[in-house]
Amino acid sequence: MSVHAAEPLRKVTTHRLFEMKERNEKITMLTAYDYTMAKIVDQAGIDVILVGDSASNVIAGNITTLPMTLDEMIYHGRSVMKAVERALVVVDMPFGSYQGNSTLALASAIRIMKETGADCLKLEGGEEILDSVKRILSAGIPIIGHLGLTPQSINKFGTYTVRAREEQEAKRLISDAHLLEEVGCSAIVLEKIPAQLAGQVASELKIPIIGIGAGNQVDGQVLVIHDMLGMTNGFSPRFLRRYANLHDVIFEAAQHYSKDVKSGDFPNEKEQY
Ligand code: KIV
Repeated sequence: MSVHAAEPLRKVTTHRLFEMKERNEKITMLTAYDYTMAKIVDQAGIDVILVGDSASNVIAGNITTLPMTLDEMIYHGRSVMKAVERALVVVDMPFGSYQGNSTLALASAIRIMKETGADCLKLEGGEEILDSVKRILSAGIPIIGHLGLTPQSINKFGTYTVRAREEQEAKRLISDAHLLEEVGCSAIVLEKIPAQLAGQVASELKIPIIGIGAGNQVDGQVLVIHDMLGMTNGFSPRFLRRYANLHDVIFEAAQHYSKDVKSGDFPNEKEQY
């Protein structure tokens, strides 16, 4: 009987995402912000781990993603990178670190890459950030774009409702997606737009389109891990499927522990030295 060595882990790269699209293989993406969660998600075989600036909401307790700083994103990115062996790790560039100034954008991007060791960056926006996108790409740093409901622009939108329902905004989104592909982005996240529009973009572009609230005619899906695990039970958009109810699991465990400590049941004789 011959003994086979375990298959070597094949690290996911931006090129591999492109191949997956060509093969019609759906791409899985989840957020993670810390070592422990990133390790579980990576071992579960998720293709892309996004160190999202949604950390601002689910970790830091802010209402929007705008307060997130470059230092905070680097902290989360570095923690995730220590855990991940297979997945492609993408770090969000935070609000204020790349808009309107391509020199600042490149400096911010280089800091994230050097200090976290991440594989790729994600930036929100289209034509209006194209100079920054090109400058970062020129340094050999892969970029994933993000169009549709871009949370860093929430003060412009004024609402978290579905974007690009109107023809003018839909046309602009299609044109922005083409621009991002032409300059060399590796993929695009489309957030909260009509499924048909997302499907059109996915069929017109060669690079993968990863949706969140953008239907199933795209090349992959992304969810915020706290939402899909049911930890944020006050947040229930239509696009969200909950795969667990960790809110109740954690709540009940904390209550049980409290009861055991107060009654003197914990620790028992076997749980002490
Ligand atoms: O920050 C984030 O989690 C994101 C996803 C919603 C795509 O950008």
